Formats: sequence, C-alpha cells, structure tokens
Amino acid sequence: MDLISFRDLDKEHVEKIFAEAKRMDEQLTSGSVEKLDGILATMFFEPSTRTKLSFQAAGERLGLQVIDFLGERSSLKKGESFVDTIKTVDGYADVIAIRHSAEGSARLAAEVAEAPVLNGGDGSNQHPTQTLLDLYTIRKLKGKIAGQKVHLVGDLKHARTMHSLLYGLAMFGAEITMVAPKGLEVGKEYLEDIQKFSPRVKSEDKIDLSDADVLYVCRVQAERFADKYEAERVKKEFTINPEWVGEGKEDLIIMHPLPKIDEIPPEIDRMGQAKYFEQARNGIPVRMAAIKMLLEGGM
Ligand code: NCD
Repeated sequence: MDLISFRDLDKEHVEKIFAEAKRMDEQLTSGSVEKLDGILATMFFEPSTRTKLSFQAAGERLGLQVIDFLGERSSLKKGESFVDTIKTVDGYADVIAIRHSAEGSARLAAEVAEAPVLNGGDGSNQHPTQTLLDLYTIRKLKGKIAGQKVHLVGDLKHARTMHSLLYGLAMFGAEITMVAPKGLEVGKEYLEDIQKFSPRVKSEDKIDLSDADVLYVCRVQAERFADKYEAERVKKEFTINPEWVGEGKEDLIIMHPLPKIDEIPPEIDRMGQAKYFEQARNGIPVRMAAIKMLLEGGM
C-alpha cells in the first residue's frame, strides 16, 4: 500500500489514520513512543522545509533510521533517470517519502518501488499527508469537520494543498467557500471529482469572513506560472487584512500550509486566530501514523 492521492482514501481509511495519529500525539506527550525498525528514505526533488523535516522527525520519533536524497548533489546531476534513482533507493529503504515537480511522479515511484511510497507533493496535483494534517487540525481545534464553514483563499489553480484539501473537506461534509484571484480558480476536474459527496461548495469574488469558521489561505504558487509578471500582479491582490479577522467570528481559526509570503501580514501571527504553526506541528503525529500504518501494512 502507498499513500499517493487523497482520492485513494475513503472515510474509513482517514478515520483509522486519525485514530493512530491521536495515539501518536498521546505517546509524544507522555514521552514514550513505541519503536519500529527500518529505514525511511526522504527523496525531495523540489524545495521543502516542513514536509521533509517533519517526515524525517516523524521517522526519528518512531525509531527509524532516516536517509536523505540530496537532489542537487546526487547522480541526477550526471543524468540518471528518475526511475533508476527510485529503484536504487528502493533497495536501501523500507519506506520512501517523495516530492517532485511532475504530476504523477509519486504514482510512478510507487509502481517501480517495492517499498511503500508516501507522496509529499507531486506538482500541482496532490499533497495527501498535508490534507490529513489539515483535517486533523480542524477536528482537534473545532471538534468536528462536518458543517464547518471553511473559506479556501488563494491560488486554487496551482496549489496541490488546495486540490487535496477540497477533496478531503467534501468527503467530511464541510461547507466550502472558494475565493481565488481571477484566473486562479480551481480546475473543473477537481470539482467534478467531489460531486460524489454532494458537496456544499460555492465560489465568491471577494473575501468575506463574517460567517467563516476556518480561513485556509495559500500563497500564489509563482514557480508554477508560465508568466512570472502575472504571478507578481496577483500576489498584490490577495492579502488578508487583520481588520477582517478582527471582525470575523470569535472562534475563527486561520490555517495555512506554509510557507506564507505576503498573503498573511505578520500582525496576524500575533492574533489568537492564527493556528498555522500549530497546524505544522500536527504534521509529526499525522506523518508518524501514516508511516507506521504503511510499514505495518495496516492501511
Ligand atoms: C506546500 C507545498 O509544498 O505544496 N507546502 C507544504 O508542504 N507545507 C505549500 C506551498 O508550497 O505553498
């Protein structure tokens, strides 16, 4: 079993991962974590701070050895293919976490590797462990996901975090409002994908937080734009105003997969509503759970 796309999961899978993540959370708090044996390889062909380090920290907390692939200093530089690289590392590790700029790369890696593969982001497509930790955070802070009014704001066209999350929120019955700069609306295929959940989803032109329970923001994914000037232009359009947050519901929470650039001004970090660093921390128990379940074949 691999973890490549949120679309491969059903609610039962997700609930099992959440239950395991909760156990991991409790074990981390008590300071005694059940240990596993084996080697985790992290293979990040694209930049990363949180996803790579939290996979590595999760592996270490579980007692695994962690080996890391340094793209720039590997034989990729000599012209080695992606498939040969994966096949080689598959011979060294028991579980692989991977990120690559090409959509479908994680699926391809899973096809050629014997070891279970976790997708840490493939192009604009999917980022399933991010969505698991996002939903886990909403559940932890709000008690439930169903019926929460979640506003998704930012580059919904290119952000893989949003594509996975849209699916996860629809699966769990959240009420979704999407607000994207013009031209950066979510692709039709992602909306078609969620129709089976009879989702409550709408699009709006302006950010209006008056009824929001959760504001989830992502940055403009400038590296995925054909036209860099266009990226600069839209970046300026979408900045969350601290006043809007102050006027929102008292228990509004603000989430972001990070990195945040200009879309969230630093004043918001000091507001109680800002939960993104707590959200990032939840990546540890959630990724511990996912790694453990894949290694033990329990997913
Ligand atoms: C995101 C990613 O890489 O997709 N970061 C993350 O994994 N937390 C979000 C982004 O880069 O905007």
